[in-house]
Amino acid sequence: MSPLAAPPCSSELSLSVNEVAIDPAVLAEAVSGLTVSPKTLSPWLFYDEAGSILFEQITALPEYYLTRTERAIFSDHADEIINLAAHASSETPQCLTLVELGAGTATKTGILLRAAVRRQSHVIYQPIDVSETCLVEAQANIESHIPGVTVIPQLANYITQPITITRPTQAQVLALYIGSSIGNFSPVQAREVLLNLRAQLQPGDSLLLGTDLAPGEHKDVATLVAAYDDAAGVTAAFNLNILNHLNRDAAADFETANFAHRAVWNASESRIEMHLESISDHRVNVADFEIGFVAGETIHTENSYKFTHEAIAKLLCDCGFSVAKSFSDSQALFAVTLAAAV
Ligand code: AVJ
Repeated sequence: MSPLAAPPCSSELSLSVNEVAIDPAVLAEAVSGLTVSPKTLSPWLFYDEAGSILFEQITALPEYYLTRTERAIFSDHADEIINLAAHASSETPQCLTLVELGAGTATKTGILLRAAVRRQSHVIYQPIDVSETCLVEAQANIESHIPGVTVIPQLANYITQPITITRPTQAQVLALYIGSSIGNFSPVQAREVLLNLRAQLQPGDSLLLGTDLAPGEHKDVATLVAAYDDAAGVTAAFNLNILNHLNRDAAADFETANFAHRAVWNASESRIEMHLESISDHRVNVADFEIGFVAGETIHTENSYKFTHEAIAKLLCDCGFSVAKSFSDSQALFAVTLAAAV
């Protein structure tokens, strides 16, 4: 799943320089991010084939509490979430259709779809993603395991392209934006994404937002940092893989051994930052560009914003939603917030 989506099918536009296939979108991103100071790369570059497999492995790590905690919150509260969404605008329950932004293979969504089928026997599920492979897998998994669900997949980049929501007669929409995907965006970008979604919704529709919580009374910074710097080194491999991606698709010659994975908590911005730190002074070629690194300099590869309940409510309110109910786990690690479009 790609939270920050790459332009779809950019590989079709491959050019050949010195017999190396270049993906112009990857090259453009690499050049614009590495020729400025501080150096940055965009998180969508993580998700090549190897990176997507590494991310799947991250979600199963003991330190990466996010995925299993959100799944447990869904398991505990799916019926209530569906019930509240169906009653968002009136005493009489309305029929729901579920739409998911950045659905990926929709592994956690099945819990909510099962609850929706218990209520209304038939549900239309509309996953939106930039990866056709993911959408095909999502549709096959869901239609074969959850009778009563019809899947209408939509191949789109919900950040750069308008989304279309199919609205069966009189149905209310429950939009899902889960998995802490919103955490990759700056506060300004996050508002843009939610405002674009809100523009497709009507009063009475709902949004279910999954966000990772900021450290506080229950959660310490060490727990948070460990989720991004696991003992087995899977997150380090995921971060370093961005360099392999540039080597392959932007004709670069990075040596991953020249970089070290860093995960740091930035308290003033309320975010985990991932960086790749150069361990020596050296130079790297990226197609026709030469990029210099000094020892200790970093490439900033990802932000993962963490929220307080107040920040979630403020964000939703700014974007035309009001919090209906917030769900969390006993350790206050993660929040799932149901909000009504107002
Ligand atoms: C896919 C953006 C939710 O920020 O936790 C996991 C990505 N990066 N480990 C996150 C990620 C390093 C993940 N999101």
